[in-house]
Amino acid sequence: MRDPLHLVSPSQPELAVDLDAEADFSRCGALKDYWYVACRSPELTGKKPLARTILGIPIVLFRDEQGWPAALRDRCLHRNARLSAGDTFDGKLGCPYHGWVYDAGGNVVEVPSLGPSQRGEVLDERGHAQSGLTVEPCKLGRVQRFEAREQDGLVYVFMGGDAARARAEPFRVPYWGHRDWTVYFMVTRFPNGVTNLVENFMDVPHTVFVHSGWFRNRVRKRVPATVKRSGGSVLVTYKQDRDALSGLGRLFNPRGLPMVHTDHYFVPNITRVDYMWGEYGFAINSQVTPIGPTDSLVYTAISFRLPFEVPGRLVGRALAPVIKWYTTQVIRQDVEIMRVQREGLLNGPGGGVFKSTEADLLHADIEAYRRWLREGGQGPGPSDEERDIVFWI
Ligand code: FES
Ligand SMILES: [Fe+2]
Repeated sequence: MRDPLHLVSPSQPELAVDLDAEADFSRCGALKDYWYVACRSPELTGKKPLARTILGIPIVLFRDEQGWPAALRDRCLHRNARLSAGDTFDGKLGCPYHGWVYDAGGNVVEVPSLGPSQRGEVLDERGHAQSGLTVEPCKLGRVQRFEAREQDGLVYVFMGGDAARARAEPFRVPYWGHRDWTVYFMVTRFPNGVTNLVENFMDVPHTVFVHSGWFRNRVRKRVPATVKRSGGSVLVTYKQDRDALSGLGRLFNPRGLPMVHTDHYFVPNITRVDYMWGEYGFAINSQVTPIGPTDSLVYTAISFRLPFEVPGRLVGRALAPVIKWYTTQVIRQDVEIMRVQREGLLNGPGGGVFKSTEADLLHADIEAYRRWLREGGQGPGPSDEERDIVFWI
């Protein structure tokens, strides 16, 4: 049993972000009814299985005979060894302890200690079957299986049972497969929960403190924006076409075109940030997979199109390592501030109760959606609204 973190203040439960419940399969309500990224496609080779934890549940991933991804509960039926410590062969998964073999559906298809016949004749003759032993692999039952799907270079798992019940399709990675655009992924373990992470990825005011000198400097400037909450998404459109991005931001706009900056949240765990100058610019798409209350894996897809016509993609590829290095530094700064926030959250009772101002309206909207889903996601949910806000950077 996991120790509860007591992140919720009992006196103000209605205002608290309950990271404990949000990341617990049995208490997360409708948050489990979405596809979550389990790994990048190239991580799932035909050779070794992969271990992941989603919503507190350990799963093992491997590829079946056709190469399709399969996801099972990471626990052998026999003596409960972790299956992810085993091997895959011919699209099946072998337990490392006594070698029981599972197919992609989670069925036991071979028990080496039953011998080649796999029928149990020997055991029957000795009367062992009468004493509660199962003698045929197919009658041993199956390990819990989760539906898995592969799309845009990512492998998704659905934890909520029948995937036909999914509340949304897996998210499409922006500009995946588009000519002239380069897309690469970064996978980062963050020491915080989904709500705090998606808020961070949508948050402009922190950039002038956490990323000062790297991404955006403090300029004491007023930024008007529109926050539109509708249909499970929060779209923020910033009205400052002269945003002075530092660092690599300048690379995208040598001609000084006006910038279009939007931040978009999609329930329950996805953000997409776009900075565009004409038809050039970049999009940062983050999908957060909950491991536990303050532990997450973030799959960030960085898509960019540089303002070099000939030949755009070659330049894009050549510059990719530089851009990757730069984004790694910026993400590291966010990992560190998320660790600092986590320390404060866990610093005694009352963590998870937040005070908000106008500049936090989008975050309050995100919390409203996630709270509604965590409580079961019944009824219409938070109403559609569009509001203008102003904040300073
Ligand atoms: S524990 Fe898996 S085969 Fe024995
Ligand atoms: Fe940041």
